[in-house]
Amino acid sequence: MVAVGKMGSRLAVLLVIICQLTTLLDAKYPVVLVPGDGGSQFLAKLNKTTGPHEFCRQKTAEYFNLWLNLEELAPYVIDCFVDNMKLLYDNTTRKTRNQVGVDIVIPGFGNTSSVEWLDSSQLSATSYFAPIVEALVKWGYKRGESVRGAPYDFRKAPNEFGPFYNNLTNLIEDTFVRNNNTKVVLLAHSMGNPTTLYYLNHRPQVWKDKYIHSFITISGVWGGAVKPLRLFSAGDNLNVPFVEGINVREEQRSMPSSAFLMPSENFWSANEVLVSQPKRNYTVKDYKAFFTDLGIPDAYLMRQDTENLVKDLTPPGVEIHCLHGINMPTPLQFQFGEGMWPDTQPKVVTGNGDGTVNIRSLLGCLSWQGKQKQKVYHQTFPKAEHTEILSNKDVIAYIKTVVNS
Ligand SMILES: *[C@@H]1O[C@H](CO)[C@@H](O)[C@H](O)[C@H]1NC(C)=O
Ligand SMILES: *[C@@H]1O[C@H](CO)[C@@H](O)[C@H](O)[C@H]1NC(C)=O
Ligand SMILES: *[C@@H]1O[C@H](CO)[C@@H](O)[C@H](O)[C@H]1NC(C)=O
Ligand SMILES: *[C@@H]1O[C@H](CO)[C@@H](O)[C@H](O)[C@H]1NC(C)=O
Ligand SMILES: *[C@@H]1O[C@H](CO)[C@@H](O)[C@H](O)[C@H]1NC(C)=O
Ligand SMILES: *[C@@H]1O[C@H](CO)[C@@H](O)[C@H](O)[C@H]1NC(C)=O
Repeated sequence: MVAVGKMGSRLAVLLVIICQLTTLLDAKYPVVLVPGDGGSQFLAKLNKTTGPHEFCRQKTAEYFNLWLNLEELAPYVIDCFVDNMKLLYDNTTRKTRNQVGVDIVIPGFGNTSSVEWLDSSQLSATSYFAPIVEALVKWGYKRGESVRGAPYDFRKAPNEFGPFYNNLTNLIEDTFVRNNNTKVVLLAHSMGNPTTLYYLNHRPQVWKDKYIHSFITISGVWGGAVKPLRLFSAGDNLNVPFVEGINVREEQRSMPSSAFLMPSENFWSANEVLVSQPKRNYTVKDYKAFFTDLGIPDAYLMRQDTENLVKDLTPPGVEIHCLHGINMPTPLQFQFGEGMWPDTQPKVVTGNGDGTVNIRSLLGCLSWQGKQKQKVYHQTFPKAEHTEILSNKDVIAYIKTVVNS
């Protein structure tokens, strides 16, 4: 009896050790994904009394996919989309709200469903975080448990993200607890990076030390980019072949995120022409004239609302893994010739970057080296395009080393 009891308790000790070892081997850091501009699905329900065309739906009984939904972008129908998607700006409160009669919800907060694929039908080639999530799942992660998404209203900027940031705090704390009190890896793309930086800048250091393992920044827009200036001037079809930039411009002009992502004065000098047209040149110092000449004074207010949110690049106070592409032709200047300003697509002068964000802005994360006690790692991926980088196998291999570290 005694011998067996001893055996039993030894066995129990051994089992506990094995369990602990297994937990150690399994000890992967849970991941929270923060998407960029355009990287969250939107559902809408309509109860409108007017619209741009007779054929635009004004009332719907149910929510339907507003973003991203290629059917919504078809010729003519796209005018209905723009009217539903655009924000209204109140120049007194300096806040935005949805179009009258349009109710928008962002589905799937806390799960990955709405950030893996943009088009919920998954018909188009709009995979987003899917390749990363699929890799994580292959390494033992569970959707909605150890890999989670934080979709948000990407039309807005951090000055209006209060409710989203509260949800993000709850999500991070919940993810920590659900994963046996394991610190969380934040992984953001594009505008998700300054969005997360602003958030981290406003969290107490003790909280970050407790809950955050590290922050993987992919294609970070740290100092803005020249490309958004086209959203305001000629409009940008964002490479959707059958869409004309000018047809989506009204919506793009209504988004504070477009203003938030404009080139920062800390990254561009007053002698670099960003946009030229026959009557004048615009530099980073000429935004007031730029918006006045375009006849959109509210957009200048939006720029003022957002230009200082992350301007100083205050260190995030967490370990950083800054990953981005290089050596892709990236808009550096837009040139409007005679008769082109502002409705005709400008000539594009390109420079180095990831195809969307200029190299100097992508490198903004380096300013934290030596300015915070946590490490700042940096790796570039030649010819990795701004969004395609999310399916780059070297990037996915890098992520594996961080989440398994
Ligand atoms: C739709 O809006 C009208 C006001 O324009 C309101 O009276 C009505 O209750 C709304 N219907 C629904 C289903 O919300
Ligand atoms: C706000 O908009 C109104 C109406 O468009 C305009 O008259 C007013 O000057 C604007 N105020 C500011 C601060 O731009
Ligand atoms: C999360 O999304 C996946 C599909 O992406 C789905 O299978 C799963 O049921 C969702 N989990 C929760 C908790 O909603
Ligand atoms: C925050 O979370 C609540 C509850 O899950 C949800 O209803 C709301 O839409 C979320 N808001 C934002 C801005 O994420
Ligand atoms: C948490 O730890 C317990 C045992 O300590 C284990 O059974 C469980 O699988 C772990 N959960 C996760 C998500 O790792
Ligand atoms: C704009 O700048 C270019 C140099 O970049 C200069 O040649 C041109 O004269 C300027 N145009 C105007 C209207 O100032």
